[in-house]
Amino acid sequence: MKHLLSTKGLGRAEAIGLLDIAEDMADVANREVKKLPTLRGKTVVNLFFEDSTRTRISFEAAAKRLSADVINFSAKGSSVSKGESLKDTAQTLAAMGADGVVIRHPASGAPEVLAASGWIDAGIINAGDGTHEHPTQALLDAFTIRRRLHGTASRGTGLDGVRVTIVGDVLHSRVARSNLWLLTTLGAEVTFVAPPTLLPMDMSGWPAAVGFDLDAAIAAKPDVIMMLRIQAERMNAAFFPNSREYSRRWGLDDVRFARLAPASIVMHPGPMNRGLEISSEAADSAASTVLEQVANGVSVRMAALYLLMSGDREDS
Ligand code: NCD
Repeated sequence: MKHLLSTKGLGRAEAIGLLDIAEDMADVANREVKKLPTLRGKTVVNLFFEDSTRTRISFEAAAKRLSADVINFSAKGSSVSKGESLKDTAQTLAAMGADGVVIRHPASGAPEVLAASGWIDAGIINAGDGTHEHPTQALLDAFTIRRRLHGTASRGTGLDGVRVTIVGDVLHSRVARSNLWLLTTLGAEVTFVAPPTLLPMDMSGWPAAVGFDLDAAIAAKPDVIMMLRIQAERMNAAFFPNSREYSRRWGLDDVRFARLAPASIVMHPGPMNRGLEISSEAADSAASTVLEQVANGVSVRMAALYLLMSGDREDS
């Protein structure tokens, strides 16, 4: 694997292989010394053109647990805000000897541009580009589902027949898109539930069922319900009347939460808008995987960095 840009192009065996390596990485997290020497002498740059807390620190923790050196580069207050182009930034990082670049960018496709450019010879990981993809989020979600369902026997398995309902702001969500491709590749059945205004205009070619009624979706007893954040920062218009109306119809409130099957799990990529798309009771329940998702994110990102940066890049 040279880059990790999307889950759309990821094959089933490749995806399962990555999740299995993440299981090995999770074992490291349980040791007293949470560190492997694997990427000693390598440099990972976190190149963030968009605000982020959990994703950036997750990649930082992952790289450090593999003994890589980490440089955090955030566009705010940097030469990028002085008008420097992506090309100049990339060439600067190349001159500094970056072996891996984790990039988050508001423009869909920016990581592909970087990977195809020849400006820098490093493994590129997409940490979220516009409304396009967020592959490591989908991988950590798949990892979390697989672990909840199969426990320690999850190595080598996909998600065949698992019914996943993804609710909310699908239109603006790169998490929804990356999950759609990955979860269906792994054999899961995906249903989107959203107000019509928060679904893409053209969903032909999306291997998903679509519904507009959250109560009906919950009555169908999905194995997994994944609530998406309302992405107000991407909304240039009113996509729903007001937040009370949104949570009344599309939020996982206490009443809906109580109707879920006892074994079903509740997911959210964070950051959560408590009381809007998800109630505190649901978010803090035993069914919720929100904090497991955060912990698993480090293991999955360690696996991705390992696959991109060890192995055939080794020239010493
Ligand atoms: C997601 C993102 O940035 O796309 N969050 C994250 O990675 N921590 C989801 C979101 O912002 O809603």
